[in-house]
Amino acid sequence: MIAGWSMQCSSNPYMFAIALWKKGYTHKLIQQTKEFVIAIPNKKIEKAIEIFGTTHGDKVDKFELTKLKTLSAKHIRPPLLADATTNLECRVEQEIDPGDHIIFIGRVLAAYADEKGKVLLNMGKVNGKRVFQEF
Ligand SMILES: Cc1cc2nc3c(=O)[nH]c(=O)nc-3n(C[C@H](O)[C@H](O)[C@H](O)COP(=O)(O)O)c2cc1C
Repeated sequence: MIAGWSMQCSSNPYMFAIALWKKGYTHKLIQQTKEFVIAIPNKKIEKAIEIFGTTHGDKVDKFELTKLKTLSAKHIRPPLLADATTNLECRVEQEIDPGDHIIFIGRVLAAYADEKGKVLLNMGKVNGKRVFQEF
């Protein structure tokens, strides 16, 4: 899934937080497994964003639809995205329930970065179409 509501929330220990809609499928998977990967996108994987951000994993196989390449993580079961600029392997340490989303706070067990890689930011919508810019 695409998760814009995400941030680093501690540097020592290195912790990352994401806010996930309770009715989404990814939320259910993370509650069961307590594991997730944060993958920071770039232009190479821009086309997959619409599918990952608008379809549900219990209805379609998003990896099959987008043909995104994956790699095995070292410490957890979910895969890394081979073409992402950054991948973080996270294990949930806290869950906060403020309303219709759950905030999962994960300890980063391993981090991988393409240091020359760029980062794609969501710039909002123009004429109903989502626009992204790479920095
Ligand atoms: C740019 C963008 C940002 C999004 N940010 C979030 C987010 O922070 N939290 C969330 O729960 N859903 C967010 N979504 C929506 C989910 O990605 C979407 O509901 C997805 O279909 C959920 O898939 P799943 O049911 O397989 O988990 C975002 C979607 C887009 C396109």
